Amino acid sequence: PGGTTRSFEVTVYTSPGPTCGTFSRLWINLIGSQGQTPPSSVNKGNHHLLPGSACPIQVRANGPLGHVVLVRLRLEAQTGFPNLDWHCNRVEVRRLAEGLGLGPEDTETQVFLCDRWLQTADGDVELRSGKLCLLKDETEEKLKQHRVKQLQQQQQLIRWRVFADGAPQCVDLKSLSELGPNLSYKHKSPEINLHYLRGFMGRAEAWTSFTELEKLFAHSGHQNSTARFVKTHWMEDWYFGYQCLNGCNPLMLHQIRLLPPKLSITSDMLRPFLPEGSSLEQELQKGTIYLLDYEVLDGIPANVINGKKTYLAAPLCLLHLNQQGQLVPIAIQLQQTPGPQNPVFLPSDPGCDWLLAKIWVHNSDFHCHQLSSHYLRTHMLGELWCMATLRQLPDVHPLHQLLMPHIRTSLQINFQARMSLLAPDGVFDKAVGIGLDALPVFLNRASHRISYRSLCVPDDVSDRGVDKLPQSFYAQDALRIWDVLYRFVLSWVGLYYSKDEDVKQDSELQHWITDINTHSFTLRFPQSLRSQAEVSQFVTMIIYSCSALHAAVNFSQLDFALWMPNCPASMLRPSPQVKEALMEDDILSFLPDVNSTCRVLMSLRLLSQPTVDFVPLCHYKETVFRDGAHLRLVEEVQAELKDISNTISKRNSQLPLPYPYLCPGSIENSVAI
Ligand SMILES: *[C@@H]1O[C@H](CO)[C@@H](O)[C@H](O)[C@H]1NC(C)=O
Ligand SMILES: *[C@@H]1O[C@H](CO)[C@@H](O)[C@H](O)[C@H]1NC(C)=O
Ligand SMILES: *[C@@H]1O[C@H](CO)[C@@H](O)[C@H](O)[C@H]1NC(C)=O
Ligand SMILES: *[C@@H]1O[C@H](CO)[C@@H](O)[C@H](O)[C@H]1NC(C)=O
Ligand SMILES: [Fe+2]
Repeated sequence: PGGTTRSFEVTVYTSPGPTCGTFSRLWINLIGSQGQTPPSSVNKGNHHLLPGSACPIQVRANGPLGHVVLVRLRLEAQTGFPNLDWHCNRVEVRRLAEGLGLGPEDTETQVFLCDRWLQTADGDVELRSGKLCLLKDETEEKLKQHRVKQLQQQQQLIRWRVFADGAPQCVDLKSLSELGPNLSYKHKSPEINLHYLRGFMGRAEAWTSFTELEKLFAHSGHQNSTARFVKTHWMEDWYFGYQCLNGCNPLMLHQIRLLPPKLSITSDMLRPFLPEGSSLEQELQKGTIYLLDYEVLDGIPANVINGKKTYLAAPLCLLHLNQQGQLVPIAIQLQQTPGPQNPVFLPSDPGCDWLLAKIWVHNSDFHCHQLSSHYLRTHMLGELWCMATLRQLPDVHPLHQLLMPHIRTSLQINFQARMSLLAPDGVFDKAVGIGLDALPVFLNRASHRISYRSLCVPDDVSDRGVDKLPQSFYAQDALRIWDVLYRFVLSWVGLYYSKDEDVKQDSELQHWITDINTHSFTLRFPQSLRSQAEVSQFVTMIIYSCSALHAAVNFSQLDFALWMPNCPASMLRPSPQVKEALMEDDILSFLPDVNSTCRVLMSLRLLSQPTVDFVPLCHYKETVFRDGAHLRLVEEVQAELKDISNTISKRNSQLPLPYPYLCPGSIENSVAI
């Protein structure tokens, strides 16, 4: 009987934000399984699309409609009024009872969720009713077509472009406005104090003494307790090792059982730095020997800064886990190919030679941190995943909804980075050892070296042998967060895929992973997803990389860089080919000039503004997360993250130097800076 009733009560809800309303005229049609209603105007008379408002209208069909499957909206600009975007929350449709004897189902309200910005330029926009679902669970032919149509539109809008050969591709945009309001966000920032860094911009010369550097630090770094700790301990070997585990780049260090042949050391050379009676072979066997290998930098051409050639190294650094549980460096070879002009530096070297070797390692680490751990692993991959999601998973797909809050911001932030930081005259061009010529070469090489296992925390930390170290706070916190995220994702996946077969048969999901593989090139993701566990791991990896990993490598960067010698962005002399017992002030001639130092610090400071609408990990504004089953999972994951926060805070309160970067309350939900 419901199918014959032709009168509907429709209510259009505008989202509550102060800019969500519009002057434009809104037209609406109801599309049923058998027909559609003529367009009706929603905001006529004294009904307006005001923020937080509900506009009711009555809609009548001329002929049979069947059940309502889509609501079509169209905005029309009004002469004399600005053409403002409109944030539609939802449309509710209730069939009006006509006549007698109708069951309760006839007056049930259907909700058509929108929760996004609409513009007059969008033309017809169709909202679908009902819950999230997979393609196989779609019962209406019109809704299947709607999925296909949506993806076709998105694929025209969101197109791939090569940024660096062999590296993950990015979005093809001429201007930010092409992204439209759905994928843009505001990044309003509080005043940033660049007062003490700015006035140096003309000094294209080396620092004259460490005293000068200390004076700068007193004004621009001393307020920060981590930075003060860095400045006090940066020369100490235990703190060098500590930074490999808990600094801004905790991803490089790995345990080794065999020495790489390219490292020219002998057991005898290292005996003085190992426990009495032990040997390098025994320590390797025990698993107490670790390596940093910056092979990815080998042969990369270095930038010219302030008209001067700069230099890169590609160090190998061997570390030992000593009996006090400290990880200390015991040998550093600055270039990959062994030979007489490539000495191995040792903690016992005279003068400042050992210190300089460690500074070179930090310089190499700066590049790998900024470009590989930060830019490539979180920003570029976030963009790749975001594009594939927009192009291959329709809005109604449950994984589209779960992923978007974590990846939505990556298109905008990366576009902005390519236009500023990574553009001519940007900080990489002007002040970083890897400049614009070397950048694509580096990204290509670094992409080759990222494995899927290294992106999945449990595999990554156990492969690298850092999961069981007592002081490995990054690894410990990362494992906790991964575990909670994984169970959250697995439950979400379980709501929609009841068996592994459903995963294999989800053609949209398979197109998605194919799109990801096609446009990531050398980086190897799984070729297909075959089970609930595989898809959950993959989705967890995306959420983790765009939230927690980004927090670990981003939040920390300024703290460790404020004392410049701990983190020089360029080196002005070649890496030493002989041991020459350098003096402390000789070291300054290797370090960046005054104005390039300040340029890098200014950029890091600008990147350090908190986002205005900071959303913590697994907090969702989107309406779909308020639905019953989803809400339950969200509440569960939030409670578990809260427990992790408490555990971390408690641990940190007992540490001389806390590790705060993976505390869930300060992890942002997506890559927004
Ligand atoms: C924003 O999302 C709506 C609904 O999917 C879509 O119709 C519209 O085209 C999108 N706007 C832009 C500019 O992408
Ligand atoms: C440093 O100063 C020189 C001379 O004024 C200028 O040409 C150069 O661009 C500056 N470098 C940076 C990184 O700002
Ligand atoms: C400064 O140090 C504290 C640790 O006390 C840290 O939590 C904070 O994020 C640091 N960084 C900045 C840029 O303020
Ligand atoms: C990036 O790090 C800075 C501190 O260095 C912090 O203020 C900012 O909020 C961080 N951004 C994100 C998205 O975590
Ligand atoms: Fe970032």
